[in-house]
This record gives sequence, structure tokens and C-alpha cells, in this order.
Amino acid sequence: MLQQDLSIQLPSPEQSFNPTWANPNGCQLYIKRDDLLHPVISGNKWRKLKYNLQQAQAKQATHILSFGGNYSNHLHALGWCCSRLNIRFTAIVRGYPEQALTPMLNDLKNWGAELHFVDRNTYRQRTEINYLQQLQATYPDACIIPEGGSNQLALKGVAEIYQELEQNYDYILCPVGSGGTMAGLLTASDKTQFRGIGVLKGEAYLEQMITALNPAAIEQNNWQLLHQFHHGGYAKSTPELLDFCQKVSTNHPFSIEPVYSGKLFYATKQLLAQGYFPAHSRVLLLHTGGLQGAR
Ligand SMILES: Cc1ncc(COP(=O)(O)O)c(C=O)c1O
Repeated sequence: MLQQDLSIQLPSPEQSFNPTWANPNGCQLYIKRDDLLHPVISGNKWRKLKYNLQQAQAKQATHILSFGGNYSNHLHALGWCCSRLNIRFTAIVRGYPEQALTPMLNDLKNWGAELHFVDRNTYRQRTEINYLQQLQATYPDACIIPEGGSNQLALKGVAEIYQELEQNYDYILCPVGSGGTMAGLLTASDKTQFRGIGVLKGEAYLEQMITALNPAAIEQNNWQLLHQFHHGGYAKSTPELLDFCQKVSTNHPFSIEPVYSGKLFYATKQLLAQGYFPAHSRVLLLHTGGLQGAR
């Protein structure tokens, strides 16, 4: 029902990908095109929000509140869903009201969202129980969804990516920001090898985020995060990465951007060249969307 109301195109296509990159071990590459799920709630946004929105609807929620930065794909996607579903939306944004609005915050405003700016220190409290209780007292009717939508309900939605796959793969790779996507994939299989590409400087921290969401992953030996491809940190990039994104987007029938998918594809190119994957491995890249962020 929700899927139809929001016009989500499922399942997303699984396509083979044949770049002219060095590939000494003859691996086969594929892409799961979650970027095609929807123009606004693309990629992992739909996967993470699906059951959160279903729960809000089941509770007949009239108000949703969530958190994000000035460029948050999550706030953007959730704001759009709320406007379509006629639900009031409050966005707690890390930033200052006097700053010019980013294109995504502008969209949110146009969709009727209430933007509530908080400074860094206040934003840091976004997972603390006292702060959440204060917010709930200020907005008693609000259903609060965490930053990035990453909670238990998100894991269930993300696991559906794996359940949708038409073929078996030796490796599945995805970008890792808050860990929800990786944590969800790990609930779906303890056999397939998963590799997460950290998009920020988050060694140990990102692993903790994943195992906090999915404690069973501590015992699984089918995953690893690779921390050498963040290009300086979250939303940071290098001329090399920008050039790479542009070339891939020009030479293939899909686009990538430098914050998430660009780092994933760049990492894959390097790993292939190094012979990281055993001979003839079948490797699937999860395109998690986020192209609106490139604005
Ligand atoms: C487009 C895109 N891809 C990947 C990610 C990383 O996913 P996660 O935060 O679940 O690790 C995000 C952030 O949620 C995102 O917006």
C-alpha cells in the first residue's frame, strides 16, 4: 500500500557492470540499482524508512520528527514522504538558521517541513534519552525516527535487498555512513561476504555502530569494513575522486556522486586492481542512490 502510495519501483534491477578497469582475477561485477527505486526516496532511504513509515501509519501518527545535517539525504527523503502522506514533519537540523538554505533544505521547506536548527553540542545529544524525552515533551504527538533512519525497523527493510537478489554473489559491497545498511544486510546472510566502504574517518566507531544495531554481527565472520577509501572524511573529496565520478557517470548508463556511491566504486576499482577478490569472484555493488546530494 505504502509502496504504491509513494510510487516505489520494486524490485530494483540487478545489472552486470563491465568497466575497463584492471581486473587481474577475472571477477564479474554487478550492480543492484537501488538508485532507481524512486527519484527522491532512492537507494537505502526507502529500505530504511519503509517499516518506520508503516509503523507510523499503523499508529495513525500525524507528526514525524527526525535529525540530520544540512545535506541530509535522509531528511530530504523523509520530508518528501511526509508531505505525500500528509504527515507533519519536524527536521532537527545541525546548523544555524541565518545560513543560506541548502537545496535539500529548500526542498524540505517547500514541502511544508518545519526546520528546527540546533548547534553542534545540542545535535550531539540526538541519541541521549534525556534530550529525546525533552523533544517528546515539546512535540508530544511526534513519532521520533533516529538520524539516517537507522534503527531495528530499518534493518528489516534493508534485509529485503538481499532477499530480492536473483543470483548468488561471493561479495556484496556497500558504502557505510551510519551503519544501518550494513547492519541490515548482515541480518540477511551469515554466508555471503560483505564489505563496507567507510565514507568517513570511522575506524572502530563504524564497526561499533553496526554491532550496536545488530549484536549478532559480532559473531559473524562474513564482513569487514574498509577504511582506506574515505578521501579525507565525510563529504570530503579529492580531484581524483571527482574526476573518477565524472568519468564513470559519462561512460555508463548510471551516475555516481562523491559522498557515497563514488567512494564505493572507487574502492572497488582499487580492490580489483590489487587482486583483493579471489579469481572469478562474483561481486555485487549496492548503489544506494543519494544523487540529489550532488547538488
Ligand atoms: C545515499 C546514501 N548511501 C549510503 C548511505 C550510508 O548508509 P548507512 O548510513 O546506513 O551506513 C547513506 C546514508 O544514510 C546515503 O544517504
